[in-house]
Formats: sequence, C-alpha cells, structure tokens
Amino acid sequence: MATSHDENSCDSDLSRDSVLTRHGLGHSVLHQYQGFWSYAKAIENVKDFQQNFNALDTDVIITTLPKSGTTWLKALAFAIVNRTSYSPSSSSSHQHHPLLTTSPHDLVPFVDFKHRYPANYSLLDFTKTSTCHDSPCRLISTHVPYPSLPESIKSTATDCKIVYLCRNPQDNFISLWLFMNKFIGTMQENNSGDRSPPLSIEEAFEYFCAGVSLSGPFWDHVLGYWTKSLEEPRKVLFLKYEDLKKEPEIHCKRLAEFMGCRFSVEEENQGAVDEIVKLCSFQNLKNLDLNKSGTTSRFHFKNEDFYRKGEVGDWKNYLTPPMVERLDRLLEEKLQGSGLVF
Ligand code: A3P
Repeated sequence: MATSHDENSCDSDLSRDSVLTRHGLGHSVLHQYQGFWSYAKAIENVKDFQQNFNALDTDVIITTLPKSGTTWLKALAFAIVNRTSYSPSSSSSHQHHPLLTTSPHDLVPFVDFKHRYPANYSLLDFTKTSTCHDSPCRLISTHVPYPSLPESIKSTATDCKIVYLCRNPQDNFISLWLFMNKFIGTMQENNSGDRSPPLSIEEAFEYFCAGVSLSGPFWDHVLGYWTKSLEEPRKVLFLKYEDLKKEPEIHCKRLAEFMGCRFSVEEENQGAVDEIVKLCSFQNLKNLDLNKSGTTSRFHFKNEDFYRKGEVGDWKNYLTPPMVERLDRLLEEKLQGSGLVF
C-alpha cells in the first residue's frame, strides 16, 4: 500500500484520508468520505445522491456492503414487488420475466456506481427509470453507510423503507478479495495503463482488519444499519445472507411484508413464494444465458462475475487459523454490546 502522494512507498498509516491501495480495482485511490472508503467517482455520485435525492413514501432502498449478496437481494426485491405484472411462475409467463433477460443491477440500479452514464445525467432521471415503469415502487440500491444516506431517506417524515443485507465478515472478505483481484487494472483511476499484480490475501486482510475496504469499515457499516433496524424496525429491515440461504421462503415473506406487499394466503397456496425463491436462486440466475455471457449497462464487469460460488463458509478454503482468530477477536471487540453476532 502507498499513500496517494507516493505511489511506490510502503506506508502503514491507514488513518489518512486517501490511500492508494491495490485493494481496489487496480492501483486505485480509495478516499475516506464521511468515515467510509470509496473511489472518487463513487463519492461524487454519493454527493449527488445526498444533495438531490428526494425520497418518496413508496421507495425501497436496497443497502449492502459490496459482496454481501446485493445481486440476490435486488433480484428478490424486484421479483416480489413486480409479481403482479411479472409472474414468477415457471409456466409460460415466466418466460417473459425481466430477470431472465436483464441483470438485477440494471433493474435495481446503484446510485454509487454509474460510470457509463453521460456526464450530464442527473440522479433524478436516474431514479425515474430505475425500475419497470409499471412498478408500484422505486427500487434503488447503494453501498452507502446509514449515516451518509440522504436526509430524505432517513427522515421519519417519509415512509420510504430500507432493506439491509449483511454477510458474515469472513465470506464477505473472501468474496471481495477475489472479485477485486479479478479486476486489478481494469478500472485504474490513474489511467497509467499499468496492470498491477494481484493483491495477496495477507495484504488484503491487513486492509480489511484496518477498516480499509470498499464502503467499510465492515463493522461500522453493519452496525449503522443494525442499530437503526432496532430503533426503527418499520423503517429498516436487517437481513443476513446466511439466514436467507437457510430459510429463503421465510425471509422472502418477511421482505414482502416489510416492503408493504405481503403475500396473500392464496398466493402462498399457489406457490408464489417458492417460485420467487426458485427464480432468484443462485443456480437459476447463474445459469441464465444473460448471466453467462452478458454485461450490465452500468459496469465494466461481466454479469457472470456476480455469481461465483454463492455458498456459506467458503472462507474455510482460504483463511488460516490465525486469520480466523484475529478476525473473530476484532469483530467481537467492534460489535461488543450491540447484540449483533455472526
Ligand atoms: P461468492 O463470491 O461468495 O460466491 P454482491 O451481489 O453483493 O456483489 O455479492 C456477490 C456474492 O453473492 C457472491 O458470493 C455471489 O456468488 C453471491 N450471489 C450472487 N447471486 C446469488 C444468489 N442468487 N444466491 C446466493 N448467492 C448469490
């Protein structure tokens, strides 16, 4: 790692506001903005979001740390909210479901990442077109920590809702590290054209434990939403990736109820919940032609890059016992007293 002032030096001061790190996409500078780490472009987009976004009562904001299962949550939320217009059933209408032909990242766009938009593209236009035009609500996604969300979202004066999905820190770290290494050099902000070598797991782990990770520190991010979900359970729904994997139907129903579109008994009897779970399952989405070869209109990434293993506990294949112990101790200390456990 090196500071933004000296790209070649080895600098262990992780408290600076800008850190040139390979724990990003290439030799990209991560900046600290309002206590979280991100890329300059993303921070500009966040500022736009903060200044110009006016939440509607019907808005649903999908919030996550990168690599926590954002793609999955977007798919589920989209399928649930739009189930009247687009039947998730595997009968004939299923063939026309937007999730079969469009990435969840295009159906539920990020406000933080919109690299390919024209310079004069306004966030207001962006949100207007965020979902299908016949959608009963706007689904919008962000990796912004709770304190940095626009005031109109946080305000109790609006009824808009926030759904947060978190993932155990070990899997989150591994998924992020592998994802980032895949793209080393593809989004370099210094435009040098140099491709940097992959970041070792040891180096990435040091950053993660020091709180330097995309939208991190991890613990600040999860705690921000966790605390709010306890204080305002009607405003913030806190979900865990591991729970969703274990009991997808139960959490799919919770999600629908929270978003104000609870499944009727009739729908449940007709298997609507199961159909949505199946439609959005890892295997189903990963195997769609769209996700085998396509790219989203919003990123430099291929769709397939958002579907790796989709398992709980893959970290066991990567982390050494001392790493596990260190992360356990760190999280225990950081989450102490919060009631949040992984
Ligand atoms: P792995 O790298 O552990 O496989 P994000 O969507 O926030 O970028 O997170 C990506 C992670 O979620 C990846 O984890 C990916 O495989 C997993 N994922 C994507 N779609 C999923 C789905 N439908 N069900 C479960 N996991 C999914």
